Amino acid sequence: NLMATDLKCLRVKLVLLGDSGVGKSCIVLRFVRGHFEPTSKVTVGASFLSQTLALQDSTSVKFEIWDTAGQERYASLAPLYYRGAAVALVVYDITSLETFRKAQYWVKELQKHASPGIIMALVGNKADLHESRAVSFQDAMEYAEKNGMFFIETSAKTADNINQLFEVLLET
Ligand code: GTP
Ligand code: MG
Repeated sequence: NLMATDLKCLRVKLVLLGDSGVGKSCIVLRFVRGHFEPTSKVTVGASFLSQTLALQDSTSVKFEIWDTAGQERYASLAPLYYRGAAVALVVYDITSLETFRKAQYWVKELQKHASPGIIMALVGNKADLHESRAVSFQDAMEYAEKNGMFFIETSAKTADNINQLFEVLLET
C-alpha cells in the first residue's frame, strides 16, 4: 500500500519499460512538463525525471521516474532500473501487436526478477490512433487482470488519461 504511511512527502520509485517507440518518454514528458514532443528522440540508456503530486490531505507524492531505453541493445540494463522500484509501467502501442508481445515479455521478467510487492500497470499508449488499432481493449484488459495489473489506455499526444494513470496508482 503506497499510501499506508503518514509522511508529508512520500517518494515512489517508478520505472517505465516497453519496446522502443511506444511513447514512454512522451508519456513522462507529458506528465512532468505538460507538453508533447512529436520529435522525441530515442532514449539512450535511461533518463531520470521527477514529479510531485499534491494530495488533498496536505501530503504529497514525489514520483522518481526512470524512463528506460526500449531498444534491444539496452535490454540488459533494465534490471538496474526496475530493481527496488515500487511501480512498473509496462507500455505498448495499441497500433502494434509486436509491442504488446514485448510488453508480455517484460511482465514475465518483472514477475521473475522484480520486488515481489511491485505494483504493475499495463499501459496501451497512442490511443489517439484508434483507427489503426491492432490490440483490442478487451484482450489487453483480460491479460492485465490475469496478471494482477492495472490497465489503462493513454495518449501522450492528446494527454488523454496521462494524469489518471499516475493518480490511479496512488489508490492502491
Ligand atoms: P525509446 O526511447 O526508444 O524506448 O522509445 P520511447 O518508448 O521512449 O518512445 P518516444 O516517447 O520517444 O515516442 C516515439 C514516437 O512516438 C514519438 O516521437 C511520437 O511521435 C510518437 N508518440 C508517442 N506517444 C504518442 C501518442 O500518444 N500518440 C501518437 N500519435 N504518437 C505518439
Ligand atoms: Mg524514450
